[in-house]
This record gives sequence, structure tokens and C-alpha cells, in this order.
Amino acid sequence: MLYNKKMINERLLNAIEKSKDYIGIGEAAGYIPELLNVDSDNFAFSLVTTNGDVFSYGDRDIVFSIQSISKLLSLILALTDTSPKEVYEKVGSEPTRYEFNSIVPIGDKPANPFINAGAITTTSMILGANNEEKFKRILNFYKSLSNFKESSLMKDIYESEIKTTDRNKAIAYYLKSKNIFSADPEEVLDLYIKSCSIGSNIEGLAKMGAVLANNGYDVDDRNMIVPEPIVQIVVSQMASCGMYENSGNYLMNVGIPSKSGVSGAIVGIVPGVCGIGVYSPRLDKTGNSVRGKELFKIISQDLGLNIFV
Ligand code: DON
Repeated sequence: MLYNKKMINERLLNAIEKSKDYIGIGEAAGYIPELLNVDSDNFAFSLVTTNGDVFSYGDRDIVFSIQSISKLLSLILALTDTSPKEVYEKVGSEPTRYEFNSIVPIGDKPANPFINAGAITTTSMILGANNEEKFKRILNFYKSLSNFKESSLMKDIYESEIKTTDRNKAIAYYLKSKNIFSADPEEVLDLYIKSCSIGSNIEGLAKMGAVLANNGYDVDDRNMIVPEPIVQIVVSQMASCGMYENSGNYLMNVGIPSKSGVSGAIVGIVPGVCGIGVYSPRLDKTGNSVRGKELFKIISQDLGLNIFV
């Protein structure tokens, strides 16, 4: 990437302008009722470099739930608390053409750690005396990755989803029936939904991306937050599975390992260069932010961030 702050700023402003063509396309996720109480046209963008420089635009103070981006947290913690071997005995590492909350790609085990079944499984592997302690660990881990100190559980989102999460409940019980885990499915589900309901601002999301882009080291104080072998697993899984059944096409067109959430957030990682966060709630049918995806594509081209070219 070219490294001139003024030029980066100009190109980002220009890219954001171009992405305005996609305003109003798609719908916010309605299956979590509380997500419909959010303004669908909210927009925020942030890029944090591995040098710690921050470029943020739009509604930078808005706090949104990270939703499936929490699947990065549960994968990292499961890998830390057990081992890659143990995690991948329970979940696969392959993309699937089925939607993120489908029961089909479970087979012997969930296809990958980023579909709901996979994340419910990695959540079951997180250590702690009880759910309260486990959630505290997940939240504190997000705070250390994002440096967003005010991050907390978004109670309205959590309560709205826990009441309506029949599909995830079915998945959790099914996983237990297949001995993927032995814990109480209700407890595992509660922790999973709480993780999805963690609140972040856009800079926090981009900062988490920057830490992963920086081999797991904090971009400000250079302390290690995630061990390098775990970063390698997580970023490569983002590349192959992070955008659900759209992952292959997205990787081809954008070339940035990314992970989306149904709140409309996407985090992207350009190894050695930067982390990027976009928030725009209107989604396509695969559950990915419409404007967010397009903006990633434009930025990848205009700033030369495609990891394959
Ligand atoms: O479990 C769910 O369905 C949501 N809490 C998270 C799904 C999600 O974010 C999928 N992302 N694009």
C-alpha cells in the first residue's frame, strides 16, 4: 500500500463517495427483531494501519453488535484453551455453499468454525467456571483486541435474539446429540448469543483487524495479544469461510480475508498492512452488508490492498 497519509485519506474519501451508489440496497436483518430498531442507513468506516495510524469516517460513535464477528473471538479462545488439533476434531475447515444458520453442513461435524454450528461448537470449548466468567473473558478479550474500553453486552439485542433463536437452539441440541459437545446446549447457546451481542464502535473493529494484520501484536504498545500460529489459522479461515456461501466470490473480487456479521459490520485484514472495519446494516441474501462489500472492493482496488496482486 502506498504510504502517504494525505493520499490514503483522499483515496478513502473518494472510495466512500463511490460506495454511495449502494445506499438503500438490501434489508437489515429482521430475524433478530431488535436489529430492525437500528437506522438501516447508518454508515461508518475505519482503517487502522499496523503502525497504529487511524483513518475513520461516518458515524464513528455508533455502537453496534458485532454478531458473527464474535466467531473470531470464540475460535481464538477455543484454540488457546485447547489446541488446533482438538478444535479441528470438532469442526471442519472447509467452506460451505449453505447459509450460515443451516443445519445441513453439519454432517459429522460443522463444516467450519464460522457458520453458526461451528461457532456454537467453539463457544462450547471456551474455559471458565461458569457462563458469567466465560463471557467476561470473551468481552475482556474483545476489549484488548479493539481497545474499545466501553465495549459491553448490548442487552436489548441479546434479549431480542435469545427469545427468537429457535434455529440456533435446534443446532445446539443437534450438536449435543452428535456428541460434538457434552455441555448443556442452553448454556452454550446463551454464551454464543451473548458473544454476538457484544457492542463495538467502528474503530474498535478496525483495530481488532489491525492486531490480526500485525501478527497478533498490539499496534500501539506492541504487546502480543494473539499467538502467531493462531493468527495464521484465523486469517486463513476468514479468507476461505468468512463471508459464508459468498466467500469464494468475495475473495476473488476483493482479495482481503474478511468476516461479516448480520448487524451489517465487516472486518477485513490485510496482513502486514492494516485492519479495516465497515458498518452498513443493509444486507444481501447471504447475510453480508451490501454497501460494506462494495466498499471493500473499491478500497481493495484503489489502495492496492488485494493480497493476491
Ligand atoms: O446466530 C445468529 O444468527 C446471529 N447472532 C449471528 C449471525 C451472523 O452474524 C451471520 N453473519 N453474517
